Amino acid sequence: MSDPTSSRFSTRLFAIVLPVAVAAILFQIEPFDPVMLPVRLDQSTVVVPTRNGHLRVGSEVVGKGHLDGPEDLAFDPQSRVVYTGCEDGWIKRVTVNDSAVDSVVEDWVNTGGRPLGLTLLHNGELIIADAGKGLLRVSSEKEIELLVDEFEGLKFKLTDGVDVAEDGTIYFTDASHKYPLKDAVLDILEGKPNGRFFSYNPATKKTTLIAQNLYFANGVAVSPDQQFVVFCESTLMRCSKYYVQGPKKGSIEKFCDVPGTPDNIHYVGEGQYLVAIFTAFTPELDFAFRYPFIRKVAAIVTKYVVNLPISKNGGFLVVDLEGKPTAHYYDPKLSLTSAIKIGNHIYAGSIEYPFVTRFDIEKYPALPTV
Ligand SMILES: *[C@@H]1O[C@H](CO)[C@@H](O)[C@H](O)[C@H]1NC(C)=O
Repeated sequence: MSDPTSSRFSTRLFAIVLPVAVAAILFQIEPFDPVMLPVRLDQSTVVVPTRNGHLRVGSEVVGKGHLDGPEDLAFDPQSRVVYTGCEDGWIKRVTVNDSAVDSVVEDWVNTGGRPLGLTLLHNGELIIADAGKGLLRVSSEKEIELLVDEFEGLKFKLTDGVDVAEDGTIYFTDASHKYPLKDAVLDILEGKPNGRFFSYNPATKKTTLIAQNLYFANGVAVSPDQQFVVFCESTLMRCSKYYVQGPKKGSIEKFCDVPGTPDNIHYVGEGQYLVAIFTAFTPELDFAFRYPFIRKVAAIVTKYVVNLPISKNGGFLVVDLEGKPTAHYYDPKLSLTSAIKIGNHIYAGSIEYPFVTRFDIEKYPALPTV
């Protein structure tokens, strides 16, 4: 009985059996219940004629150490200031300079939540989709006003993207009514449509539900001709357009497929939208989306062990007025959540980084793929 070999053996066996047993029990009792997506994600249909797959080459960082996860960017060309929302609740003002290192960062106003999407109005007001607080308006005198944080009793849990039309209507998304920002990856792994897309009329203070059952509703952009509003769904890797005027008024149709998970989208002039991509569609994601139990395992690991690194080959996609992709910029080690154009540079925000990144796409352009 006191044979040391057998006791060492049983110790070793125990060391193997115990974690397996714990994992099996966790798998049984864990209520997380991922489902199949309504469509098979197929990226073979996304053909982009030009690309730059090494976007980090020649890139520069702006405001390093003064910005904690700058998610979205809004630019005021008059003052040359970029507004961005950070993890610590601060909306920061970044005065951009031709020289990246001479850009100046200052605290502007703290929402007390987690500001994500933001849009600057002509009168200096900022409209903010705050993940924790809801839809906010900040006056140029820094007064914060909550516009709305629920619809018909169902609270927003992850207010995410926003844009404002010329008539003043605010279009915005709640990525999930179920998971807060810190559990965003769980919403995506679950594969259920917890997202909604709304409009808000500031004159009547009325909120209108435009679309529900969306798969992580994210970025929003009003078309320059004011005919439609684009909104993106990260999980389904696509953006749709909702017609607000014209013969198709009220209908929704596909705008574009995205080679990865779209985040914020911005119209940047000259017939171009920039769609930020958090992560490309990797073989791992493809596998996980085909098998819900893999996503359950991934969720358990995320919840109890460690955050899984899921982002790879993020960047941004250039899309024309018709929704046709014209250029794809990415890098193996990049994850972006917003992209805007200032002069020759693209300035990009990321929830992952302590800085804004800028890219000189004239010097490092996307080149024809064939
Ligand atoms: C850029 O920064 C430098 C150094 O701080 C400053 O002297 C210069 O005026 C700035 N340029 C612009 C266009 O703001």
